[in-house]
Amino acid sequence: VYQHFADLGVDRATHVVALGGGMVGDLAGFAAATYLRGLPLIQVPTTVLSQADSSIGGKTGVDLERGKNLVGAFHQPRLVVVDPRMTRTLPLRQIRSGFAEIIKVGMALDATLFRQLEREGESLLGLEEDRYLAALVRAVRAKARIVEVDEREKGRRMLLNYGHTVGHALEAAGNYRRWLHGEAVALGMEAAARLAIRKKILSNRDYLRQRDVLERFGFSLALQRVSIEDILSALRLDKKARSGRPAFVLTRRVGVASVHRTLTRKDIVETLRALGAEP
Ligand SMILES: NC(=O)c1ccc[n+]([C@@H]2O[C@H](COP(=O)([O-])OP(=O)(O)OC[C@H]3O[C@@H](n4cnc5c(N)ncnc54)[C@H](O)[C@@H]3O)[C@@H](O)[C@H]2O)c1
Ligand SMILES: [Zn+2]
Repeated sequence: VYQHFADLGVDRATHVVALGGGMVGDLAGFAAATYLRGLPLIQVPTTVLSQADSSIGGKTGVDLERGKNLVGAFHQPRLVVVDPRMTRTLPLRQIRSGFAEIIKVGMALDATLFRQLEREGESLLGLEEDRYLAALVRAVRAKARIVEVDEREKGRRMLLNYGHTVGHALEAAGNYRRWLHGEAVALGMEAAARLAIRKKILSNRDYLRQRDVLERFGFSLALQRVSIEDILSALRLDKKARSGRPAFVLTRRVGVASVHRTLTRKDIVETLRALGAEP
């Protein structure tokens, strides 16, 4: 991409338009953040995941083999253009994956959005236009409110990583091929909710509400053919880890979450085992 910029004679007034899903948004965004120390960026997201989540908030980055998003920059787009109809050509698996991020926002931050997901699961997956737009607007607003007060993720923005600690570790353990981002995040939310139950901060009732919604959207919530050791070694590389201890976002009830650093190796291992990961 840099080479192309140079060939095209890109200068500091050139706008980069990221037209595509989250992958394109992250890559084009990172190139825009770094080329000539920063070019103006316009996001035009075309997947559910990128419309609901990745095109806003200014996080850009690329993966290394050793871990997800290890190289990146904050670079806010000047403009985000969303046409919900663009998502109609997506395969169901990609649509579902995007909804993991919307479920995440509902469960961690917005109980009203979560209730909409409980009510409208199937029609949302079918991208019924008004309903999809309504869910999108709520998810984007909730994220924007947080990014406005904590752009650099010193505090509240961490809550948007709900499901992502185990989720990112799974993506790495599966060499970024086995699970789509949203599928890994759905498993990560299941793991986080089980950890929250273990720590007695989440009720069984709210755990089941989350599980029901994830299942209605068609996520598989069992870990098969993946070893606990592989997940643990990926967890050690987590960007939010301090002295090797990963930070977990746990929910107290639907719509309310907080960050925890007190989980032990035993908590994590037993939770992964209960989900079906191999010793
Ligand atoms: N920067 C952030 O804040 C942030 C947040 C969440 C996720 N992400 C990243 O986003 C990536 C996932 O994004 P994604 O789910 O959009 O996947 P993606 O960008 O890989 O796109 C999924 C697939 O859909 C295709 N596609 C895109 N738009 C289409 C359309 N309208 N119709 C048909 N096919 C289309 C793409 O070519 C690709 O094959 C992950 O790498 C994840 O780490 C970033
Ligand atoms: Zn995500």
